[in-house]
Amino acid sequence: MLDHLGTLERSHYCGTLGPEDVGKTVTLTGWVSRRRDHGIFTFVDLRDREGFVQVVFGEERGGGAAHAKAKHIRSEYVIAVRGEVVRRAPEAVNPKIATGEIEIQVDELWVLNDAKTTPIPLDEEKVGAGASEDLRLKYRYLDLRRPSMQANLRLRANVTSTIRRWMESHGFLEIETPMLIRSTPEGARDFIVPSRLNTGDFYALPQSPQLFKQLLMISGFDRYFQIARCFRDEDLRADRQPEFTQLDVEMSFPQMETLFSIMEGLMVELCTLKDIPVTLPIPRMTYDEAMRRFGSDKPDTRFGMEFVDLAPALDGTDFIPYKNALDANGHVKAIVAKGKADYSRKVLDDLTDWLRKDFRAGGLGYVKMLPEGIQSPLAKGLGEQKTAELAKLAGGEPGDMVFIVAGTQSVVAAALGALRVEIAKREKLFDPNQFNFLWVTEFPMFEHNADDNRWYSMHHPFTSPRDEDLALLDQDGADLGAARAKAYDLVLNGVEIGGGSIRIHRQDIQQKIFKLLGFTEEDAKRRFGFFLDALAYGTPPHGGIALGLDRLVMLFAGMDSIRDVMAFPKTASATDLMCDAPNTVDPGQLKELRLKIDA
Ligand code: AMO
Repeated sequence: MLDHLGTLERSHYCGTLGPEDVGKTVTLTGWVSRRRDHGIFTFVDLRDREGFVQVVFGEERGGGAAHAKAKHIRSEYVIAVRGEVVRRAPEAVNPKIATGEIEIQVDELWVLNDAKTTPIPLDEEKVGAGASEDLRLKYRYLDLRRPSMQANLRLRANVTSTIRRWMESHGFLEIETPMLIRSTPEGARDFIVPSRLNTGDFYALPQSPQLFKQLLMISGFDRYFQIARCFRDEDLRADRQPEFTQLDVEMSFPQMETLFSIMEGLMVELCTLKDIPVTLPIPRMTYDEAMRRFGSDKPDTRFGMEFVDLAPALDGTDFIPYKNALDANGHVKAIVAKGKADYSRKVLDDLTDWLRKDFRAGGLGYVKMLPEGIQSPLAKGLGEQKTAELAKLAGGEPGDMVFIVAGTQSVVAAALGALRVEIAKREKLFDPNQFNFLWVTEFPMFEHNADDNRWYSMHHPFTSPRDEDLALLDQDGADLGAARAKAYDLVLNGVEIGGGSIRIHRQDIQQKIFKLLGFTEEDAKRRFGFFLDALAYGTPPHGGIALGLDRLVMLFAGMDSIRDVMAFPKTASATDLMCDAPNTVDPGQLKELRLKIDA
């Protein structure tokens, strides 16, 4: 028989009780985390969002009725108890839980609901030991009962409220922008939504509020922010979800320095939530420097292993892989894994296969710096002496392993950059509790895509070129790859946590950029006409940034995936296992929308 809640009201959260409450009569509500039957006593760990407390049922209290009832409760039953807070005997104190010095001697018990045996263990250790993530996602509402998930979502709530306080105190207004918008792809694919009232037409879900925030600057709001939901139909990874949240920011008459310092101050506030030390100002590095030293535009600066260019020592080489790379304006670069000359053949083969498969690297050269001399498969082609010279130039010392990758600039950067991070992870070359922020600045305006021989915006088409590069865009046959943008990213421990730019505020320049990106005038008008029009009505200089909220919280919470800091995330194949979405819809719904599935 289940009891009714009636007028019963909780007096305290379980997890907040302590020795100062001894002697009080309290009413608690929560879930049965564990029940232990010791005959004349029954012990229950009662759990609510603030933690656990031990409640004790015995014969001598409440006439034994509560104890008799307690024999029937099971894990995850929802109960309420009333009783007295007492100090535990010294030998019964449990230092592992915050309420371990006290317990509740129960007088009354209400069983408010029962529960089936849960399909996933809610015990942290057992989940850690291998409850499958799919099962956890299917029963997400249970998974979220675990204290670690409760802590993650609470941290997330603290992060968003801190953000709101900070932005408001700096004069930013929170303004919502629409979710049903016109499809204006920003780089990823749009999720589209059919319109019933306008048959055959579609809305898109915003990839970000980019154009709307710029329009708000044209409207004169001057400083805007939004905790904005964004949607992108792209391939997913641990730090990418189809739906995610940004702190979106825009300001008029912006000085980059002002924007940077507002964001840096916010980072300090957020780090305080987890007692993470940060020193300001956050260091800065240009895109070119980041690529040269780390092969990445989001370098993890907690460890070294910087790239060394071997080209100066390879002038006139006839070793074909290196000659071909250098003749084609490519790179031959190295990194040194300190003290790792003992990597086995199997490890080296696996690393090589991985770089070949995932990064299209031609191969992975390595030089083992053994006490008796070098050992390297490269010696056959390059000669023993040249190989030793390259390893030395790379900075290798006895006991080290030198890795070398040759190829196009982008392949070398991606492959060697990934190898650098992989080795650092394997060898634990950084302190996971260290937080290294970095601004990466002066991104290129455009990147070339060889597949369709077109230029694309590196950030997005509304990003301003640097003033000194404007003239370059007018030159016939100009190297667009050389133009630099007023764009910046904020990086934390090798993860891109934000990106933004100073925008184009002049219609003529915006039109020019669309043209360089291969849009005809009609195309540009059709897609962005409303925005181009708006630019002509007194648009202030403006700029901003968006931070990936999920990524920030993931890093602060020490998690490896943004799924762990989202209440109801999707799987890697963009499905919601709990409510089984996406899914078919009624034929009637399709008919109403005049849609047919071409299966
Ligand atoms: P950008 O596309 O760089 O810029 O996005 C900003 C930040 O959002 C986060 N992010 C994601 N997080 C989780 N899942 C995803 N699929 C995902 N995609 C991006 C990243 C990224 O740095 N409108 C511009 C901002 C601007 O110019 O002001 C924009 O959206 O942390």
